[in-house]
Amino acid sequence: MVISGKTRVCGVIGDPIEHTLSPIMHNAAFKALKLDFAFLAFKVKAADVEKAVSGMRALGIHGLNVTMPHKSAVINYLDEVDQAAKAIGSVNTILNKDGRLFGFNTDGVGALQALRENGVEPRGKKVLLLGAGGAARAIAYTLAREADELVILNRTAKQAAELANLLKQTFDRKVVADTLSPNAIKDTLQDSDVLINATSVGMKPNANQTPVAFEWLRPDLAVMDIVYNPVETKLAKDAKAAGAKVVSGFEMLIYQGAASFEIWTGHSAPVEVMRHAALNHLLKV
Ligand code: ATR
Repeated sequence: MVISGKTRVCGVIGDPIEHTLSPIMHNAAFKALKLDFAFLAFKVKAADVEKAVSGMRALGIHGLNVTMPHKSAVINYLDEVDQAAKAIGSVNTILNKDGRLFGFNTDGVGALQALRENGVEPRGKKVLLLGAGGAARAIAYTLAREADELVILNRTAKQAAELANLLKQTFDRKVVADTLSPNAIKDTLQDSDVLINATSVGMKPNANQTPVAFEWLRPDLAVMDIVYNPVETKLAKDAKAAGAKVVSGFEMLIYQGAASFEIWTGHSAPVEVMRHAALNHLLKV
């Protein structure tokens, strides 16, 4: 890669940021398409988000990904925010178009694409979503338009109810919210087609945990776990053992990155290249 005076700079802001896969994934994609772009990671403290966005303008940084814990805070400093990102209060992608900053959220489309590319079609199906945090909100907003029925279970019931109300007001679909409990999961799963874990249960260092008991999993269920650390969670292993179709959180990570790449470059993302680079890196560290 030759960095010149014309190279367009993209990056990711977050804290912590050391373990991000975005630079690996995007630089590999820029190289594959011979685009004069470079991607860096910036550790930005919560108190410095406004300054970081000003810096983006001042330095003419072309695009940014935004990760934890800044996805909500950045919204205050952008010129325009896409309708979905505004509704869920979360931006993970910023595009600098001639000095005007546009905010988007690619988590929802990333999840939908990950499902579809792996042979799972949520349209017309009953989907059980566990969680109502940032990622869950993005996924719910996208899936509410596709699924026939969406059930949202969250440890904090109020969050689930607020999300369900937003979706019911926005889309004419059946959306139900309840408290996350073993019984609620078991009962809802009985007639669900797709299960998505968007809680952090099962994430390292608690990789031996799962929100769903093995006995409740079935071969005719599709399961996506958005946790990608470990790459194969306990839920994913159990679902595979039960004969269910499994889509990993790693796939969602790749497709949300691919959607951001397309926003910044206007080119179709080389998804295979991105997946290969990110997976190779993960296996090395
Ligand atoms: P992200 O950006 O990854 O979505 P988040 O916004 O912090 O992260 O959301 C984390 C989600 O995991 C929330 O739905 C959270 O539930 P609460 O709203 O009740 O906090 C859920 N979660 C985290 N730890 C959990 C646990 N031990 N059991 C059940 N749900 C949990």
